[in-house]
Amino acid sequence: MTTQRWEWTGDRYSEGFFSHGHSNERRRLALLETLLDGATRERFRALGLKPGDRVLEAGGGGGSVARLLAEEGAQVTVTDLDTRFIDELADSHGVRVLRHDLYTEDFPPGSFDFVHTRFVLTHLPDADLAIARLASWLAPGGVLLVEEPTSFPTLDSPHPGYRTIMRAYRTHLERSIGSDTSWARTLPVPLARAGLVGLGLDVRIQHVNGGDDESEWWKLNLEAARPSMIEAGLATDAEFEAAYIELANPGFHDLSLAVHTAWGRAPGPVRRRPQAPADRQESPTSAERSSP
Ligand SMILES: C[S@@+](CC[C@H](N)C(=O)[O-])C[C@H]1O[C@@H](n2cnc3c(N)ncnc32)[C@H](O)[C@@H]1O
Repeated sequence: MTTQRWEWTGDRYSEGFFSHGHSNERRRLALLETLLDGATRERFRALGLKPGDRVLEAGGGGGSVARLLAEEGAQVTVTDLDTRFIDELADSHGVRVLRHDLYTEDFPPGSFDFVHTRFVLTHLPDADLAIARLASWLAPGGVLLVEEPTSFPTLDSPHPGYRTIMRAYRTHLERSIGSDTSWARTLPVPLARAGLVGLGLDVRIQHVNGGDDESEWWKLNLEAARPSMIEAGLATDAEFEAAYIELANPGFHDLSLAVHTAWGRAPGPVRRRPQAPADRQESPTSAERSSP
């Protein structure tokens, strides 16, 4: 059963306060990449990514995941509603770059060995439907890997400035973009509904310390949303400033978003076995060398 919470147009995201046209958006995406890429790379390796795999990076944002996948030897297709930050990857890394809306535009069934998306589905009207679409593009035995946040760890913070602004920010995300900051707690069930097997789930909670990259990332999110939050009566300038004082204080420590990582594979021959990152440094066995 899927839930279309509103009628989708990509403009709602791409013309909203996270528009790639905003002066701080490139920096905001770069910080997100700094915070998340290490875990993403390790997960790909653990799931057995190997050179030559056809990988779709859907909603590629600033492009770091597409870049790291290309550096791993994968044949990468990266998409976004707005490709201005990723266009250069076509020349620099041989990546196929497409302006493409994962919610309304298709790929032929069986196009990819891996499909990955991160911090995208939360903002769509029906993330379960999006999962089913992404899964349909997998080749037999191909792997879908999704990483999406939930905001609950921020909402009962003991720090009053941070707590107040995070509650208002979540309400604003829901009302303006339409984001569902609780949807990821349903993972991995949507992958099972999409017919995937061999499911896995990992959840970790990010940490924020005053003055670190996570705190700067939060400040850029809040600054992007600030004019429309104030206009909507959801927060005051004083409340933003109180949160920023906490986020700049080196003595401030708190929880940030929870990142839910789920994976599953399309039925069919298992093309790869889970592989610990350390194994990759070792020589391949003769069986692996002779694999097609
Ligand atoms: C929060 S950013 C995350 C970027 C990147 N995935 C990362 O984790 O570093 C969300 C990205 O998804 C893109 N996006 C949103 N909805 C999309 C859709 N329906 N199809 C393709 N891209 C989409 C946005 O333009 C934006 O670049």
